[in-house]
Amino acid sequence: MERKVTTAVVGCGMISNIYIKNLKNLFSIIDLVAVANRNRAAAEQKAAEYGIERVMSIDEVAADPAIELVICLTPAYAHYDLIKRMLEAGKHVWTEKTMTVTVEQARELVALADAKGLYLGVAPDTVLGAGTQTARRALDTGMIGEVSSGIAVINRNQSLNAEVFTFLRGNGGSLPYDVGIYYIGTLLCLLGPVAQVHAFGAPARRHEPEFLFRNAEEEPWTIPGSNVISASLRFVSGALVSVHFDGNTVNAEQHSLTLFGSRGILRVGDPDKFNSPVSLIYAGQPECVLPFTHGYDGRNTVDATPFDFYGHRGVGAAEMAYAIRQGRPNRCSKEYGLHCLEILEAMERSAATGETVAIESRFEMKPLKPGYYSSVGFGRGDAERSLAEG
Ligand SMILES: NC(=O)c1ccc[n+]([C@@H]2O[C@H](COP(=O)([O-])OP(=O)(O)OC[C@H]3O[C@@H](n4cnc5c(N)ncnc54)[C@H](O)[C@@H]3O)[C@@H](O)[C@H]2O)c1
Repeated sequence: MERKVTTAVVGCGMISNIYIKNLKNLFSIIDLVAVANRNRAAAEQKAAEYGIERVMSIDEVAADPAIELVICLTPAYAHYDLIKRMLEAGKHVWTEKTMTVTVEQARELVALADAKGLYLGVAPDTVLGAGTQTARRALDTGMIGEVSSGIAVINRNQSLNAEVFTFLRGNGGSLPYDVGIYYIGTLLCLLGPVAQVHAFGAPARRHEPEFLFRNAEEEPWTIPGSNVISASLRFVSGALVSVHFDGNTVNAEQHSLTLFGSRGILRVGDPDKFNSPVSLIYAGQPECVLPFTHGYDGRNTVDATPFDFYGHRGVGAAEMAYAIRQGRPNRCSKEYGLHCLEILEAMERSAATGETVAIESRFEMKPLKPGYYSSVGFGRGDAERSLAEG
């Protein structure tokens, strides 16, 4: 057994609920000892709710030599300052997506982590879930042959959603950055790095608050950046993928991620979920749902809470904690996080200039070992062995 990694969570909003619960209960490699938030009352509430020993200020987290790993769960626009601060203080950092809101900031953080010999891991970690890992296994074992193309589609009413999730009104809140990133991350996990991007884009509409009784005094807002993107990605492998993100429509998701190969077609589930089914289509045969080959299927096994539909978020941080102890690269690495961001920024740049943009960064992501599951009976699971076995 590796020594536990002493960990603090910074940022105690919505997504911290599932992170704190999972980090505390599911991963024996993590010792979650403290929570912190800009507004201390929120951290106190989470500490009381989930039984965390200490509430700290952000300064105290940075200064405490016992804390090895900081989990950054603030809004995306606040990531750069917090990650830089924690790296400078000698901490490993796991951050929610996106790593930062600009590629320039992300490159600086990657260089800083390299210079200091520290790990910096980046969500989405849904790519380590049962759905995407099963899809990866199907590809790696040749079930659809050579992938020639694919489509990735997601739609939402992002401006309406920004009434509830107010951070979506700022940089990093457009549909491509907030949700499209799950589709980009999953494509990267399945197909490897992207060589070139070409895109068209359209901005978000100016939004008048719609919800009854909710902040009736609020001024209208416009989410920055392109909220609709139609793009083509050329992967280093040669695969061509059409990307369609529309945040200017309604909240009736028509998500789709399909890969076309020389011997079959793979329908990958919702990349925002850990347990979305993966199915295989062969000529002249009925479509067939594949059994999951991996654990982390998003099913709650400890005391149900209203946040359980967020699944096994935190698995990327736990995988990184094992990587820290074993001195090996982690899967949801800073290079993967940078590559995701570079693609999103390239879409914006291509839409603005009409030019095809070359992607400079590269990354590698090994699949997890198959055959370990979140539940193997009697309420026990062995999925953590797939993280521990490197
Ligand atoms: N809400 C979701 O459904 C969801 C899902 C997956 C990932 N995420 C990601 O998780 C992150 C947080 O999202 P959320 O929904 O929990 O946001 P949130 O607004 O609910 O919570 C963010 C928290 O961070 C605190 N905060 C803000 N700036 C800070 C700073 N500089 N230092 C310390 N604390 C600070 C805020 O006080 C708040 O408590 C984002 O990166 C988001 O993209 C959110």
